[in-house]
Amino acid sequence: MVRQVNTPTENRIIAGGGAYDQRHYEDHPELGTGLISYEHAISPRSFELEREALFRRSWINVGHELGLPKVGSYFTRELEVLNTSIILVRGKDRKIRAFHNVCPHRGNKLVWEGHPAQETSGRAMAFFCKYHGLGYALDGKMEVLRDPDNWFGSQGCDLHLVEVPVELWNGFIFANFRPGGPSESLRAYMGEHIWSALDDIPVELYTDHVRGLGEIDSNWKTLHDAFSEAWHGSVLHSQAMVTMRNITFRAPPSRFDGPHRTAISCGTVPEGAYTFNIERISRASVTGSQIRPTREIEAPKAAFGPDQQDWVAVTFTVFPSFQLQVYAPGWINTYNYWPLAHNRMRFEINQYFQRARDFSELFARTTGIALVLDNVRQDLGLLEATQRGLESRVYDTYPLIDEEHNIRHFHKMVDDRITAYRNELGEG
Ligand code: FES
Ligand SMILES: [Fe+2]
Repeated sequence: MVRQVNTPTENRIIAGGGAYDQRHYEDHPELGTGLISYEHAISPRSFELEREALFRRSWINVGHELGLPKVGSYFTRELEVLNTSIILVRGKDRKIRAFHNVCPHRGNKLVWEGHPAQETSGRAMAFFCKYHGLGYALDGKMEVLRDPDNWFGSQGCDLHLVEVPVELWNGFIFANFRPGGPSESLRAYMGEHIWSALDDIPVELYTDHVRGLGEIDSNWKTLHDAFSEAWHGSVLHSQAMVTMRNITFRAPPSRFDGPHRTAISCGTVPEGAYTFNIERISRASVTGSQIRPTREIEAPKAAFGPDQQDWVAVTFTVFPSFQLQVYAPGWINTYNYWPLAHNRMRFEINQYFQRARDFSELFARTTGIALVLDNVRQDLGLLEATQRGLESRVYDTYPLIDEEHNIRHFHKMVDDRITAYRNELGEG
């Protein structure tokens, strides 16, 4: 039975880095303090512009190499925002490649099981089309040509899957769909700060992985905004997180590197404060397992000075739609926001852990996953209400408080890129 066991009543301020008096707008006058337009959360035209200006012109995270452990391991990704599906595969040379999931003979979707809209995974030494049986090697070249004498010239032998450039960052696979190829490397795109942010984390030990997916009737940016401020936690999540009640948040300043962001959540959770008995029994909270992993980690030095102690999570946002969080005392969480329409999205969460040493650790982890997902569900459910409110068009704009400065930065980055793209189109 669930029972509330501990209710702090005093007003507390959660902050970090001595930032109680911080006023973010003074650090970032370029972001201004004005009202933000609702329009791009509710307009189909904005969605069409974002597909091209953001998703086709940025490096996009499409998975992790944990899904490709062996030669021939593959998985598919449905990328509706880019009007495509891709196959990611580890080749005979152990290199990871991505291909558009389309047969070059007569355009059939190449790799799928059950239903063509569903993602799939497995292991193969070649990909055979279900239509006329042509087979493609792991490097995309024609491997099995049927009825070879009946093709004109080399048209059959020349068939080749269309490759999508990919690069890796700490095991995370990023693809680039820019027409004509990437304009810069993933490293140059991210910048040195985020590129080196996990250098002190033993990422190769994070081999246990859980993936979750959900679709909701919300604009993708609205959910991104909810995951870019902690303020709402003291209200929306207060039932599940008693330690969040009566809290005033004062986040330390975020670091902005171009469109990317490093944000910090600090604050010491009071000893013994928990909402449900299961948290005490399992040693887990809504911020996950509280058991230290086999190889202990410190807060990423990229986010703090080396002496920062009271960290809860550090969030790296790789524009436009990927967030990676390192949570104390040592697990990793990622979010992907996949637009499906101006008012519908798929949310993807991935959690990475070091190998559990015993049942206690596994129990803490499993409880932590359930608590995290329970809170995520609260966000997702609320966002459907927000979308309905926005689409009523009762208001045109909304104000943001200083604590919501990450959102202000994100929307400016989106707006700047949409404006540049419209200028390219001659719409400016
Ligand atoms: S469409 Fe794939 S073999 Fe014909
Ligand atoms: Fe939330």
